[in-house]
Amino acid sequence: MGHQIFLLVCTIALLASSSLVSAEVVKHSFHSPNSARKILVAENDTKKSVDGILKELDIKGSIDYGVTAISLGSRDFGGLYSEKPLAVISPAGADDVGQVIRHALQSPTLTVAARGNGHSVNGQAMAHLGLVIDMKSMADNKKIDVNVNYMYVDVGGGALWGDVLKHCVSEYGLAPKSWTDYLDLTVGGTLSNAGVSGQAFRFGPQTSSVTELEVVTGNGEKIVCSNSQNSELFFSVLGGLGQFGIITRARVLLQPAPDMVRWIRVVYSEFEDFTHDAELLITSQETFNYVEGFVFVNSDDPVTGWPSVPLNSNQSFDPTLLPKKTGPVLYYLELVLHYNNHDDPSTLNMMVEKLLGKLKYLEHFRFETNLTYMDFLLRVDHVEEAARGSGIWATPHPWLNMFISKKDIDAFNRIVLQNILKSGVNGPILTYPLLRSKWDNRSSVVLPQDEIFYLVALLRFTHTHPKESEIKQMVAQNQEVVQTCIKNGFDFKLYFPHYESTVEWKRHFGDQWERFVDRKRQFDPKAILAPGQKIFTRNHIL
Ligand SMILES: Cc1cc2nc3c(=O)[nH]c(=O)nc-3n(C[C@H](O)[C@H](O)[C@H](O)COP(=O)(O)OP(=O)(O)OC[C@H]3O[C@@H](n4cnc5c(N)ncnc54)[C@H](O)[C@@H]3O)c2cc1C
Ligand SMILES: *[C@@H]1O[C@H](CO)[C@@H](O)[C@H](O)[C@H]1NC(C)=O
Ligand SMILES: *[C@@H]1O[C@H](CO)[C@@H](O)[C@H](O)[C@H]1NC(C)=O
Ligand SMILES: *[C@@H]1O[C@H](CO)[C@@H](O)[C@H](O)[C@H]1NC(C)=O
Ligand SMILES: *[C@@H]1O[C@H](CO)[C@@H](O)[C@H](O)[C@H]1NC(C)=O
Repeated sequence: MGHQIFLLVCTIALLASSSLVSAEVVKHSFHSPNSARKILVAENDTKKSVDGILKELDIKGSIDYGVTAISLGSRDFGGLYSEKPLAVISPAGADDVGQVIRHALQSPTLTVAARGNGHSVNGQAMAHLGLVIDMKSMADNKKIDVNVNYMYVDVGGGALWGDVLKHCVSEYGLAPKSWTDYLDLTVGGTLSNAGVSGQAFRFGPQTSSVTELEVVTGNGEKIVCSNSQNSELFFSVLGGLGQFGIITRARVLLQPAPDMVRWIRVVYSEFEDFTHDAELLITSQETFNYVEGFVFVNSDDPVTGWPSVPLNSNQSFDPTLLPKKTGPVLYYLELVLHYNNHDDPSTLNMMVEKLLGKLKYLEHFRFETNLTYMDFLLRVDHVEEAARGSGIWATPHPWLNMFISKKDIDAFNRIVLQNILKSGVNGPILTYPLLRSKWDNRSSVVLPQDEIFYLVALLRFTHTHPKESEIKQMVAQNQEVVQTCIKNGFDFKLYFPHYESTVEWKRHFGDQWERFVDRKRQFDPKAILAPGQKIFTRNHIL
């Protein structure tokens, strides 16, 4: 059971641990002879000027050239790519970030990557021979300022969402509206992508409940922006893949936090019933507070099969009760209803029955439990220790995330879920619908066309000591899935996109490509920022 829950939640905090704090800070000297030599050989000419530039850097925070820091800056959760930076910087605040960028501008080659918690999977937070800014260690993150009258919180760009949650709930009984499934992610990191979970059908992604940002642009300027003030920068940065500025502060809207949640899973054998019910729930006025969907394998596999569905050890999944014609995969909706301790239990139970009463899930396959709101949002953390122990989060994670238009989701199910992925991905497969109208199209995120589109997430894990062939197979299967979508003309976009060529990036952005490039010209004309996204190269914006 523990193993199963672990995979369900898949947490990674290894890279986020205390290594940087304990690392020796040696200003302006290379600690790793190997990396130093490589840099000298490769970049002899520029090295001299870079060294000079870094010597002039006078920040309140620290610059770390040590092996531990460099190693941290060159790793991410994906474990598929590794690029060594020249140094890792722990800023005290936005002014330090500005200094770093302005100094990088003086060199012809230096790039700067903000690193949130390094939970990217394809090296997006890395900077080859550049400067990595460790946002999570930024001193300003400790300030989490709640404004009770206007119901918002001001937080540092490197703050972890889990810390924001704990502070807002325990001190004020308030909480942000829209979450990710896992909260050891930074505010700036998710806002640079979107940030989606089971609340997004209602409140939009996390980018939709931000009203103000403080950003240091690629020009080295610190600018406060919002819908009404410097709005072009504001919308550029939201979902901007770190290309336009570094988020040093965000103002996030709050709502009253409930005490408790009823957490429910209901199982389907037919994809049409599953999507019908999911779409009904996300488009109804009266509905659950959280709606997600999962795909699981029709087998006894503890990680990907029947045992992965029940919510506590009192419940069991009895496969003999499944319909005879059940296919290779099954589906479940995961639903949550908020409530407070003083609410009348019978009223709550009636509400649950009323909402579930509209659904066509399989009889005998309803699982539920009650949990505090915090425990639910931190559900992934519960197994963090166990996960570390088993060692499989230091191994690579070739994850694939995408959004697919409703019009193509049935075909996707037939061709991809029931066929290519019929044995699972050795980790959770998520799929649930979202509403395009809850996303602001002025942000930099690109979405498929339909008003209803599905998130599909393949959260792959390897075995403890994976062979290279195992990882290659996973990567190849991801490519097969993407190629299948292209070949069949599916309307889809990658979430956390990863492409290496300009042609592919152009296709990704489609008719928004020009806008994206214009924004780059305006806010990061030297293409200093987030080189690990591989959209632009230094000094070269096309
Ligand atoms: C276990 C796990 C569960 C996850 N669950 C979800 C989920 O439920 N929903 C979801 O939407 N996502 C989820 N994610 C993905 C997550 O949103 C991304 O990894 C995202 O990149 C945030 O991670 P991070 O803070 O570590 O950012 P990083 O990976 O460090 O950075 C991501 C990108 O943003 C840039 N960046 C980082 N900080 C800033 C900043 N302050 N300003 C500007 N640019 C910045 C970086 O340069 C990089 O290009 C999950 C990831 C993991 C590993
Ligand atoms: C760097 O260049 C100088 C000449 O400009 C040369 O003397 C030196 O050997 C070079 N160093 C390396 C490590 O290549
Ligand atoms: C399991 O069931 C017993 C009695 O049926 C109950 O007391 C206990 O709280 C349940 N455990 C969980 C985790 O729900
Ligand atoms: C959850 O709480 C409700 C009361 O709000 C109670 O009726 C129900 O039995 C509880 N369910 C579980 C699984 O503990
Ligand atoms: C955003 O949506 C509005 C309303 O649907 C539309 O008029 C506008 O052209 C869209 N803007 C972009 C940039 O797509």
